[in-house]
Amino acid sequence: MALKDNIQTLLAQVNDLKANNAEELEALRIKYLSKKGEITALFNEFRSVPNEEKRELGQLLNHLRQTTESRINELREQFEQKTAEADRLDLTRTPDPIALGTRHPLSLVREEIEDIFSRIGFTIAQGPEVEDDKHVYGLLNFAPEHPARDMQDTFFVEKEIGVQKPTDVLLRSHTSSVQTHVMANQKPPIRVLCPGRVYRNEAISARAHCFFHQVEGLYIDKNVSFADLREALLYFSKEMFGPETKIRLRPSYFPFTEPSAEMDISCNICGGKGCSFCKNTGWVEILGCGMVDPNVLEACGIDSKEYSGYAFGMGVERITNLKYRVKDLRLFSENDVRFLRQFESC
Ligand code: PHE
Repeated sequence: MALKDNIQTLLAQVNDLKANNAEELEALRIKYLSKKGEITALFNEFRSVPNEEKRELGQLLNHLRQTTESRINELREQFEQKTAEADRLDLTRTPDPIALGTRHPLSLVREEIEDIFSRIGFTIAQGPEVEDDKHVYGLLNFAPEHPARDMQDTFFVEKEIGVQKPTDVLLRSHTSSVQTHVMANQKPPIRVLCPGRVYRNEAISARAHCFFHQVEGLYIDKNVSFADLREALLYFSKEMFGPETKIRLRPSYFPFTEPSAEMDISCNICGGKGCSFCKNTGWVEILGCGMVDPNVLEACGIDSKEYSGYAFGMGVERITNLKYRVKDLRLFSENDVRFLRQFESC
């Protein structure tokens, strides 16, 4: 019964035939099923078995051939699936459009302001957000008891956490602090723009936040006059809000400028006719300005008899609200992509 043993041995082998690729599979097919294959050889042997054994051995042999064929077919299907999957991967296809980030509206507007003033000779000056009293208030002619220094407005930095001691370290409440650094370190003529984040201790609402952004400007030279200030601000307003824009200066008070003014532009929403945005006045306030107080020049080491200068300061959020009609200040710092995506094309 050597034939029967041979058949059993092969049956045990073919049930777990393995192949790693199409070539190996073809080699298996040749090994077992080709004309010179092992199973074909057994069929040849079968011819000479005695008749009484033919039935049993014939069935066994057929079973062996079918098992081998189906195992080989099974392996072939596995390979075909893998190749089909690989074919579906198109390595030449361009990737899905990658969602690009958008510029933040405050950055867009800040850069536009910087751009407009750079065309009339202003350069950018930067300074620290964590400051001392001298640069934020002292050199700017704030009296020691001035209310802006009060805890209501200014964030003081505690030197030891949890211990409230009088401290000289604070978060700047305006970027005029950068101007004091510039005046103390540079000789006139000075023509700088100071953009940056500022902090004030205010309850957060749609109209106020504990931090916001400013762009302040300073020009110091011989014979700088209020007329120069007015011309520079008119130029800025027309560039920013359109050539039909008008400006109006109202007397005001700042410790560091004399005279001081607040500037309104004709409401760019109703064109000056009166609407809810301008509270039916036709005007909206956009900045504070004035001639640098001689006390400030002297405190910073600049001879006030030889030099004069003007300064102005505006809130970037306010300008952005006017330009893009953003109604709630909080949107600027919430990072809501639905808000930010609206500025994709700007
Ligand atoms: N520093 C002022 C503020 O923060 C703005 C200002 C700057 C006003 C320069 C006049 C001149 O409100």
